[in-house]
Amino acid sequence: MKVVLVGYMASGKSSVGKQLAKELGLEFVDLDNYIEQEQQNTINGIFQEKGEIFFRKLEHQMLSKVLEEKQNMVLSTGGGTPCYAGNMNTILAKSDHSIYLQLPVMALVNRMAIEKDQRPLVKDLSEDELAEFVGKHLFERRNYYSQATLVLDCLDKSIEELITEIK
Ligand code: S3P
Repeated sequence: MKVVLVGYMASGKSSVGKQLAKELGLEFVDLDNYIEQEQQNTINGIFQEKGEIFFRKLEHQMLSKVLEEKQNMVLSTGGGTPCYAGNMNTILAKSDHSIYLQLPVMALVNRMAIEKDQRPLVKDLSEDELAEFVGKHLFERRNYYSQATLVLDCLDKSIEELITEIK
């Protein structure tokens, strides 16, 4: 069984994905980590040295590769993955279940403010700029995320509660 998690940065894709994979007895794959291993570089490093267009092409190739290669896994994607190069159609075609971890803008901003240095798209923004950026960005991206086979409202829910709902 292949399950793919999609959603904005800091929506909990990796934490939920790890626990879900454990409980379902599936391998957990994080697409950003997969890219980092393949490139022997961090996501920040790839953005800085090669730029976003290079990253998006790589992300597209690695998504197709991992979905072809692995038959049983929970895959956590990057926040932008479903929004480029027809990737959401690939996810829908090549997985059994796709899940959008949905959170409102302010909840995402609060989470991102704590760990924004690891994220090249937002690391140089002030808190006000971050809120404005996330608001606009999520508005553009949610049409892609919403195509997932399950839309999960994640506000104020623990990982365990989310896993129970998914199951
Ligand atoms: C991105 C999200 C990141 C990572 C890259 C770009 C995005 O993944 O792929 O920094 O465009 O939203 P996370 O959602 O795991 O932070």
